[in-house]
Amino acid sequence: MGTEARIIVVGNEKGGTGKSTVAMHLIVSLLGMGARVASIDLDARQATLSRYVENRARRQGRALPMPEHVAVPPTADVAADEARFLESLQTLSARHDVVLIDTPGSDQPLSRLGHSYADLLITPLNDSFIDLDVLAKVDPDSMKITRPSHYAEMVWESKKIRALRGQRGGADWFVLRNRLSTLDARNKREMERLLGDLARRIGFQCVGGLCERVIYRELFLEGLTLLDLGPGSGVEMSMSHVAARQELRRLVEALGLASLLPPT
Ligand SMILES: Nc1ncnc2c1ncn2[C@@H]1O[C@H](COP(=O)(O)OP(=O)(O)O)[C@@H](O)[C@H]1O
Ligand SMILES: [Mg+2]
Repeated sequence: MGTEARIIVVGNEKGGTGKSTVAMHLIVSLLGMGARVASIDLDARQATLSRYVENRARRQGRALPMPEHVAVPPTADVAADEARFLESLQTLSARHDVVLIDTPGSDQPLSRLGHSYADLLITPLNDSFIDLDVLAKVDPDSMKITRPSHYAEMVWESKKIRALRGQRGGADWFVLRNRLSTLDARNKREMERLLGDLARRIGFQCVGGLCERVIYRELFLEGLTLLDLGPGSGVEMSMSHVAARQELRRLVEALGLASLLPPT
């Protein structure tokens, strides 16, 4: 496939880790950097990203930057779904700099296929051992990693498929710690240690992500991101919002999104 665009996949075999929220924030960050951005929702059952984009399109007043968005809902016919996805990916790749794919929190054929096209894979993870279990099994007695989990194996498989297809360069895999709490420093340190260990073993980079903040839930209904707040948005900036934006900016830097844009 003659893909022109760089492909970002946001994935994790678990719901509620912040995939769609992160997806929308990265889309608007990229648009703000002047990139042409498309998005594909492969989690059309929940359709959070599709709804987020719709809420954004429905806003009155100030025109907001928008991605070209496509949802590919799964049907009983997997082959037909895959064909529709590949067609969308090809069309969107030809006319955008970046295509961002949001995926469901469960293992599905369409999601696997999407993963195999990732130049950049971003996995948001809540700061809990329940979430870590998706990446690796941890022995509760020794608090050591015993083996990689199903999702980590799926990522490994999708990298192989990508290589077999002849796409150059491996996918860069980032695990993003989301909903970080300022409490429970001990838990945070343990997670940090285990993730550091795991990162070396299964090959991802760990990026310190976003803190737990109520604003993210409010933004969804408004179709807004942290980047849209301020005068004319109907949401006043607070200190917490400023700090949140700072975190987002750091995340965009850590992911190296600027390097995905074509040279000007
Ligand atoms: N950093 C955060 N702080 C607070 N709430 C968050 C944060 N990230 C996501 N959420 C909330 O968590 C819920 C699940 O997020 P969502 O992006 O839909 O996850 P997923 O796509 O992985 O299922 C949503 O209500 C969202 O607003
Ligand atoms: Mg989602």
